[in-house]
Amino acid sequence: MNNKLSRIKSLIKKECEKNGLASFYEHHLMAVEKNAQELLSRLPKADKETVMLGVWLHGLKKVRKLKGDPEEVGSREAEKVLKEFQYPPETITLVKDIIMTHRCKKHIPTTLEARALATADAMSQYSSDWVLNYAMTEGMSLAEFKKFMIEKLEHNYNHRIFFSFAKKLIQKRHEALMYVLTMN
Ligand SMILES: [Fe+2]
Repeated sequence: MNNKLSRIKSLIKKECEKNGLASFYEHHLMAVEKNAQELLSRLPKADKETVMLGVWLHGLKKVRKLKGDPEEVGSREAEKVLKEFQYPPETITLVKDIIMTHRCKKHIPTTLEARALATADAMSQYSSDWVLNYAMTEGMSLAEFKKFMIEKLEHNYNHRIFFSFAKKLIQKRHEALMYVLTMN
């Protein structure tokens, strides 16, 4: 990992800890990093630095406890960090774009890098730790949580995992989680 990237990772870790979000760092951002590295090893044409900057900066709305659309706020806050670290305007534009599209809701990823971030982020939600941590910390009723999680996992699986090899990696986990969430 290059020096600027590792300083940005440390900055995000510190901000998470300061804002009571150590578990978000541990259960989410670290998982997205691992998935992104795995995807990048199979996508040699993707620009690694852009994707990894997206990994660390895509959750800034949550990390900084800000209001608004996660993609727009995340992208705006990412720009501030990238300017502080003196990244060139081309990199800032690319990173903002991949953050703006990573949830595949209002905006759909079209570049390899944007698809890699969306996929890595979606894949991170296929661990029992992530799902159970969500259930325990978001203050939802059981019925609300099940409805929310079923919709989230279906959206992830059908609209956010862009590579067939990634879909294969996640298929069993998707089926197992959906089985648990829908059985009575
Ligand atoms: Fe995320």
